[in-house]
Amino acid sequence: MDRFAFIIHPLEPKADVARKYPFLARILPVRLIHFFSRYWPPLVLSRVTGVRSPATGREVEGFLLACPLTAQQMLRLPTRLVYRKIIQTGRLAERLGARILGLGAYTSVVGDGGLTVAKALDVPVTSGDSYTVAVSVRALLEAGRAVGVEQERAVAAVVGATGAIGSASARWLARKVPRLILVARRERALQRLADRIAEETGVTVKPSTQVEAIVEADLILTATSAGQPLIFPQHLKPGAVVCDVARPRDVSPRVMEERKDVLLIDGGLVKTPEGVDFGFDYGLPPGLTFACMAETIALALEGRFEDYTVGKDLSLERIAEIEQITQRHGFRPAEFLAFERPVEEARLRAVRRQRRGENGPR
Ligand SMILES: NC(=O)c1ccc[n+]([C@@H]2O[C@H](COP(=O)([O-])OP(=O)(O)OC[C@H]3O[C@@H](n4cnc5c(N)ncnc54)[C@H](OP(=O)(O)O)[C@@H]3O)[C@@H](O)[C@H]2O)c1
Repeated sequence: MDRFAFIIHPLEPKADVARKYPFLARILPVRLIHFFSRYWPPLVLSRVTGVRSPATGREVEGFLLACPLTAQQMLRLPTRLVYRKIIQTGRLAERLGARILGLGAYTSVVGDGGLTVAKALDVPVTSGDSYTVAVSVRALLEAGRAVGVEQERAVAAVVGATGAIGSASARWLARKVPRLILVARRERALQRLADRIAEETGVTVKPSTQVEAIVEADLILTATSAGQPLIFPQHLKPGAVVCDVARPRDVSPRVMEERKDVLLIDGGLVKTPEGVDFGFDYGLPPGLTFACMAETIALALEGRFEDYTVGKDLSLERIAEIEQITQRHGFRPAEFLAFERPVEEARLRAVRRQRRGENGPR
């Protein structure tokens, strides 16, 4: 049976380390978790079983591997040290016989989005970002439709627009709405992207280094690597729809509590085919997984053992292709969730009412 492997690592030091080492997580202060994570060797977290394509009947199995660097360490340590640890984890995947390796969480955020890692390893690599974009942009547009956003008049915004997920999402959204706001910190990279999108689509693009710029937007996709919330209640207009792809999240939990007039949904989540057992609780409700993991599994089921999504400039054609591949093998977009809990009908009604009020009676 063909095998895949997928790398994860602790995003929230205490909570995530407790999933594997409850005792250590209890006694170690966070700063020591960060410190020890640097010296801990890669490890197998679980065997993934029950993966069978409903379309072809083909079965594969896999391994969840831990690259034991916290998100904070991944961002703070010199990139070459982080690469070394990811490559070490990739070698473990090779020893386990994996034929494709998925780079979860910050293992594809750091550096060049998997290019260096893929070059160093024999096993083909994918970041999973293509399917993450597909799922997240579709969920945002769908959520917008559910509350009455009229795409042909809507303003969309992408926060983290110069990143792998942000830039591809922005290029896609520019094909759907007439006005686009792009937010990130690096001005020149933002301007380059804005020019590229304007040239590709002719839409009006407004680049900004201030997150406050999103207050004009009806549809917002956020995918930064800030590692902490940067979107707060005051940044959103009444009736806005926000899809948060980032992990750790970009949107403050205060938005859920204080802004009943906006719709927040989690990005990058999908339903797995029946019967998949990850053998490890990585914090999602049963039957759900991250789109980046789904991309890796679907490529294994498809027998596409090649570097698939690598680098930071994603191809819109690949994004369309992986949507078809994942669908064929039984992956489906998750229902609307916010902070991993189903979005209540009352919230949808409130946002719909808000938008009707804003747009005037029709
Ligand atoms: N749900 C899933 O399946 C899934 C899959 C993959 C990734 N993700 C998550 O998606 C996010 C983005 O991943 P990526 O690979 O696209 O990362 P990336 O390529 O590194 O892009 C990150 C973007 O965030 C911007 N940024 C960073 N800090 C910022 C800040 N403080 N304020 C504003 N912008 C900031 C960066 O641009 P500047 O440097 O110019 O600011 C860049 O545009 C991560 O949180 C990752 O964990 C989720």
